[in-house]
Parts: sequence; structure tokens; C-alpha cells
Amino acid sequence: MTMKGSLLFVSSVVILINMVRGCPPKCRCHPFSKSVDCRNQGLVDIPSHLPAETQILLLSNNHIQKISQSAFTDTLALKILDLSNNSVSGLLPGTFKGLRNLQILNLTKNFIEYVDNRTFSSLPHLKELDLSSNNILSLPGTLGNNTWNITLLSLKHNKLQKVDRLLLESLPNLKVILFKGNYWQCNCQVFGLKLWLESFLYRGGVSDGVICATPGNRKGKDLLRIPYELYGICPHTVSEVHQANTHHYAEHRSSLKHGRHNEHGGDGSRAHCEPKPKPRPVSLRHAIATVVITGVVCGIVCLMMLAAAVYGCAYAAITAKYHRENSHSPPGKEKGSVEESKPFQSSMA
Ligand SMILES: *[C@@H]1O[C@H](CO)[C@@H](O)[C@H](O)[C@H]1NC(C)=O
Ligand SMILES: *[C@@H]1O[C@H](CO)[C@@H](O)[C@H](O)[C@H]1NC(C)=O
Ligand SMILES: *[C@@H]1O[C@H](CO)[C@@H](O)[C@H](O)[C@H]1NC(C)=O
Repeated sequence: MTMKGSLLFVSSVVILINMVRGCPPKCRCHPFSKSVDCRNQGLVDIPSHLPAETQILLLSNNHIQKISQSAFTDTLALKILDLSNNSVSGLLPGTFKGLRNLQILNLTKNFIEYVDNRTFSSLPHLKELDLSSNNILSLPGTLGNNTWNITLLSLKHNKLQKVDRLLLESLPNLKVILFKGNYWQCNCQVFGLKLWLESFLYRGGVSDGVICATPGNRKGKDLLRIPYELYGICPHTVSEVHQANTHHYAEHRSSLKHGRHNEHGGDGSRAHCEPKPKPRPVSLRHAIATVVITGVVCGIVCLMMLAAAVYGCAYAAITAKYHRENSHSPPGKEKGSVEESKPFQSSMA
């Protein structure tokens, strides 16, 4: 009896302390680390009345389905928010509004299908965004206008077929990007991704690679190992073609034909893509080669001209000096002698 009574007393004191501190039931609050741990509690909602100073909120392994717009309006100091392994199916644009200090947002293992570009716009300090293991079918053109600090983006194990190159280009400080386990469509449309990824890896970025799911003959192949010539071009990127040099267009077309003959016959994939070449990289390479060759030739010509000028000047100077020494003073004497001799001659006369 006394044992039970004291247990009851202790637990009610703990609850009371938690209530005084404002710790929600089923959560453990650690005031020193400013963290709140509500993992594995079968929660279906974000707990309310979280301590305002909370910086770390762990909500993984629950059954949270919906996040209301006001879920985090009292915890604006949040730095780490872990919502992994829940049942979140959608994110409203204002869900994370005001979380100006949030650095890590973990949404892995949920049922998110759609991402709005405004959802992450209010997170200027966001560094790591884990969207892996969801049902995302497509991503918006950008992740909002506050993506400067994002260094890690995980898109692993979703249903993505493509990702806009502009989205990737709007993440200037990205260090790690994870792509594995999607339905990457390696037709003409994946071209921008390939170009971006090559440049990203060249700059020291880390990625787990893009493994193609379709078309059939490229299934399981690494995007980076598929040569440019085999892509063809999408109808909507015709404007890019116009920007490119028409000079190299025909050249590329012939190289494309060669590439195509080498490939194992045609398949359904080409139905999506017009059999037009994508001349950009080739023309870029040509342009660089042209610039380099022009530079070298100009350099050589310049050096030759310089050498000729130096030689010419030296020659002119030497001959001038020689002339001065050889002809200036003696003609002076001659002149003098002539002038001297003239009066003499005239007087003689
Ligand atoms: C995900 O959460 C459920 C409880 O909601 C748990 O049973 C399961 O073990 C968790 N999975 C992982 C990988 O942690
Ligand atoms: C997100 O949480 C999972 C476990 O739930 C972990 O494996 C993963 O590393 C976390 N992602 C980030 C970016 O911290
Ligand atoms: C990125 O983070 C730094 C400090 O961590 C901050 O000063 C800066 O405002 C952030 N960038 C953007 C675009 O908000």
C-alpha cells in the first residue's frame, strides 16, 4: 500500500513538474539541452503546449498524419525537427512558417506525395532536408527562395521520374544529394540533370548517383555512363537549340546518327523524344576548343610581330647610328670644305 502510494506520489510529482515546465504528456523534456523527446508514443498529432524555448523536437516513430498551420507557432526557436517515420501525407505551405532557426528537418518515412515550393520558403537557416522514403511524384521548380544554406538534400526512395535542373541550381551550397531508389526516366528530359550532376561532382559534391528505371534498355544503368549522343532532344527544349550555334548543329546530327546505329536498335523510349540532337555540350566543347586555338594562334602571331618589331627597331637603330657615324660627320667636313673652298675658289677667281 505504502509502496503504491509513494509510487503514485512520485509519478504525480513528475507530472506536476512537467506541467509546471510545460512539458506535454508522453514527452520527455530536457530543459538543459532544450530538447523534447516524444518518440515512439503513438501520437497522432503534434503535441501542443511545447516549451517555447525548445530547440530540438523529436517526434519520430509516431502516427502523425496532419500538421496544422499553427503546430509550431509557439516553438519558434526550433533548430532540429524530426518527424521521421510518421504518416504525414501532405505539407501545407505555411506549416513551418516562422521557424527562422530551423536547420535540420527530417521527414523521411512518411507518405508525402507533393511538395509546395512555399513550404520551405520560411526557413532561411535550413541546412539538411530529408525527404527520403516518401511517395513524392514530382518536385516544384524550386524549393522556395530561402535555399541558400541547404547543404544536404535527400530524395532517396520516392517516385520521382525527373527533377528540374533549376531546382538543383537554386541550391548553391549543396554538398550532398541523394537520388537512389526513384523511377528516373533516362530519356531526353534527364539531360539537364546529367549536366548538373557532372558539374556538381566536379565541384566536390557527393551523390549516390542516378540509376535509370526507364527506358528498358537503360534500366539499372548509371545516368553518368550514358553518352550524350544517345538522348535525343525533347520538343520543349527547342528554344535551347536556337541559342546554340547552328554551325555545330549539323555536325552533331551526323555524330548522333552514328551513335544511334551503334545502339541496340530503337525502342519505345524514342516515342517521347523527337529524334533531334541536343547540340549544346558539343557546341560548348567546340566553342572552348575554338577559343583555345584562337588564343594560341593569336599568341604566336603576337610573339612573331613583337619579334619582328624588336628586330626592325634594332636594325633601324643600328643603321641609323652607322649612317650618322659614317656619313653625318664626313659630309659636314665636306660641306665645310666645300663652303670653305668656295670663297677660296671665288677669291681665286
Ligand atoms: C516506425 O514506427 C513504428 C511505430 O509507429 C515502429 O513500430 C517501427 O519500428 C518504426 N520503424 C523504424 C524503422 O524505426
Ligand atoms: C532522418 O532520420 C533517420 C532515422 O529516422 C536517419 O536515419 C536520417 O539520417 C535522418 N536524416 C538526417 C538528414 O538527419
Ligand atoms: C544562411 O545562414 C547564415 C548563418 O548561418 C545566415 O547569416 C544567412 O542569412 C543565411 N542565408 C540566407 C540566404 O538566409
